[in-house]
Amino acid sequence: MSAPTPAADPVLVARLRADLESVAYTVEAVGELLGPLASAALDREQMIPAQRVTAAAAGPLATLVRLFGLGDAVDIDEAAAALPSLGLDGAAALRLVRQQGPGVVATCDLRPYGEEGRTWWVASDLPELATRAPLSEDHVLGIGGASTTLASWTPRPVVERALDVGTGCGVQALHLGSHARHVTVTDISTRALEFARFNAALNGVEWEVVEGSMLDPVAGQRFGLIVSNPPFVITPRTPDVPLFEYRDGGQAGDTLVADLVRSIGDHLEAGGVAQFLGNWEVVGDTDWRERVRGWVAGTGLDAWIVQRDVQDPAEYAETWSRDGGHHSATTEFATMYAAWLDDFASRGVSAIGFGVITLQRPVGDREPFVDLTEATGPVAAPMGSHVLSGLRARTWLAEHDDDELLAVAWRCADDVVEERHGRPGDDEPAVIQLRQGGGLGRVVRLDTVGAALVSVCDGSLPAGVALSAIAELLGEEADAVRSSALPLLRGLVADGLLV
Ligand SMILES: C[S@@+](CC[C@H](N)C(=O)[O-])C[C@H]1O[C@@H](n2cnc3c(N)ncnc32)[C@H](O)[C@@H]1O
Repeated sequence: MSAPTPAADPVLVARLRADLESVAYTVEAVGELLGPLASAALDREQMIPAQRVTAAAAGPLATLVRLFGLGDAVDIDEAAAALPSLGLDGAAALRLVRQQGPGVVATCDLRPYGEEGRTWWVASDLPELATRAPLSEDHVLGIGGASTTLASWTPRPVVERALDVGTGCGVQALHLGSHARHVTVTDISTRALEFARFNAALNGVEWEVVEGSMLDPVAGQRFGLIVSNPPFVITPRTPDVPLFEYRDGGQAGDTLVADLVRSIGDHLEAGGVAQFLGNWEVVGDTDWRERVRGWVAGTGLDAWIVQRDVQDPAEYAETWSRDGGHHSATTEFATMYAAWLDDFASRGVSAIGFGVITLQRPVGDREPFVDLTEATGPVAAPMGSHVLSGLRARTWLAEHDDDELLAVAWRCADDVVEERHGRPGDDEPAVIQLRQGGGLGRVVRLDTVGAALVSVCDGSLPAGVALSAIAELLGEEADAVRSSALPLLRGLVADGLLV
């Protein structure tokens, strides 16, 4: 049976908030209490060091971490001391705790979360780590790796209306509140929306909360920004595999993500942006771009899609058979693993791509740009400001022709360095490349013309003039040199190496 969801009683929630504030239950304070060793162990889903540290530390902060962060039973008096204005009766009325033997246990996870010195508190179902049991199918996920990836990649322009599709506990919506005047959240799960309502109340923000599948609840509405960490996991449609609401949208293969790409444009204002995560199937020896380009074709949207990782079907089966609390020694695990392999084989799937999808409704009637690229290394964190400047650069490129591109005096971005590699003792480098410190961390190899062009990109000389001079020096035809440099120039501008 599923655990109860918290009640959003405004008076009791205000008392809880006052207690969390007075204890300073913040990301920084919890990090300090746990120390680097226990924090790193928790990141690897090992609780023992954190349990040892908090058991040895007296005080309300350690009690809150044990109760709501680790799922441990705590002494009734200690729990009451950590929640002085709410009290244990109030905490029980909010459905956050229950008595267990001589102690108290939490019925949900409640932890601080934040960015740039600000703290939110987020309630969700207790994770498998705390319950030590497989998850229920209607489990409401807390903040996970995918949540923070999406939050990091989301561009954050100031918008009037923003939408979070599949809000779960509402973590993306908390971020949206800092730059959107009105936030709508949707989810198919009633339990998830109860957590979202509670978290909105606890953090003193207001969202329009609507229940339903994907974009159904916002039919006819448009937004300046839509974010979604959708249930993108590709799951076999067989009774052998449980369908967890938090990861499975109820459709075969990658249909849910494909449908989202195809339908989201109807909900974007002109200039509006959709940012979401997805998985896609790679069939046989085709390039992943073929399939994903097909999703974008005909939408009229600008698309910038970055494949961040690829797994083969066996790796994928392992990840998702284990997720949800099933251990690899069990029969269930083996049955699920086989079901995943059979499902992928039935469609000839050779690999599964993981990536970040950015779509934009163009302003006016220009041709949309489509940029499908790979970036598997480390990227800037957060990435949102780079996504925003990358969208602006790609939009500018789509709106300007080659002559206009060549008329600009480009400047090398401050985070770009040039690297020269060669054999020891050689006068000339064998390889010259640019390395970007932020953004997608691009490394771009340069030919002679490219290296010469970039060396004079200090914002004073239009690229076309520079290329004519380079052609003269090399004794080559100016038009040919200019045209050969255009793809490099466009790429460097799009990715922010030239600004
Ligand atoms: C991976 S969780 C993301 C939760 C949260 N937004 C985050 O970033 O951590 C996916 C969410 O989508 C919801 N969901 C599943 N199927 C859905 C559907 N058909 N329509 C809308 N939401 C759905 C789940 O209940 C879950 O809350």
